[in-house]
Amino acid sequence: MAALPQHVRLVEVGPRDGLQNEPGEVPTAARIELIDRLADAGLKTIESGSFVSPKWVPRMADTAQVMAGIKRRDGVSYPVLVPNMKGLEGAIAANAGEIAVFAAASESFSRKNINCSIAESLDRFRPVCESALKHGMKVRGYISCVLGCPYEGAVNPSTVAAVAVDLTGMGCYEISLGDTIGVGTPLAAQAMVNRVAEDVPRDRLAVHFHDTYGQALANILACLECGIGVIDSSVAGLGGCPYAKGATGNVASEDVLYMLDGMGIETGVDLAKLAAAGGFISDILGRPTGSRAARAMAGRERG
Ligand code: HMG
Ligand code: MG
Repeated sequence: MAALPQHVRLVEVGPRDGLQNEPGEVPTAARIELIDRLADAGLKTIESGSFVSPKWVPRMADTAQVMAGIKRRDGVSYPVLVPNMKGLEGAIAANAGEIAVFAAASESFSRKNINCSIAESLDRFRPVCESALKHGMKVRGYISCVLGCPYEGAVNPSTVAAVAVDLTGMGCYEISLGDTIGVGTPLAAQAMVNRVAEDVPRDRLAVHFHDTYGQALANILACLECGIGVIDSSVAGLGGCPYAKGATGNVASEDVLYMLDGMGIETGVDLAKLAAAGGFISDILGRPTGSRAARAMAGRERG
């Protein structure tokens, strides 16, 4: 086995990616409490919302109120997704500090998600990034469908690499490689990461897995072995993507942390507090947590 990193940064995406697809209302106060609890658990990057069209993603329409309600902690970043200049205006007004732009490695997904081609999206992001950087904001870049597309099937790793190069050139400090529909398997994940790393430094790459086919932890371990040190995950396994049919949960943060703790990889995140945050939001949503580790921990307490 290749050398594993000693430290991993967890990027918590539950309050945005996790909740954006909820069929029912999620009270603004609950999203605020969730974010505060996640910060209290030790997470340093907590994606808190998105400034996108409320017609496309109604659940994120209260992002300005969420950003106004959270208790900001020193050393914690609360990024928001931004698809265009209008979204950036919202992020600036909300004093976001960090934004994420989001492209895709598949034309059909790009069209369904943000209503434009990959090239058009990159043209749209260029002035967004430029202006965000001028405002002193950090910019993260997402690429969706890096291991498969719900409409087009297989995705060529060279296409992922080309989009990653463009986003890096615009000033994104990190590129999150998203297996949006969770079809990837470990060797494919390694081949994709290694191909992208030919063009973008490995320490600027993050991975974002969905557990749709139960492959997420195996894929994450495979990517750790490739020298990746940043992992996106979602508390209680919340979420999916409104434009990726079949994309069920993001990998659960508690499950990732349980694995990393067990491997002696340091994250600075407290598993019990994280699981409590997952329990809190699951109770609000009225369903059991999607985290296997959290369920096992709760069972151990009861038993
Ligand atoms: P469009 O319809 O082509 O845009 O949508 P438009 O410019 O014609 O605007 C249409 C309407 O939206 C107008 O309002 C605009 O003002 C408004 P109207 O005149 O009809 O009343 N509008 C906005 N409102 C608020 N904030 C804005 C904004 N922009 C326009 N920023 C658009 C294009 C990009 C706006 C739309 O497609 C959109 O908002 N898409 C967002 C989709 C989204 O959030 N998807 C989920 C995130 S991606 C994801 O989850 C994957 C990821 O997590 C990785 C993974 O999981 O693998 C990143
Ligand atoms: Mg996701």
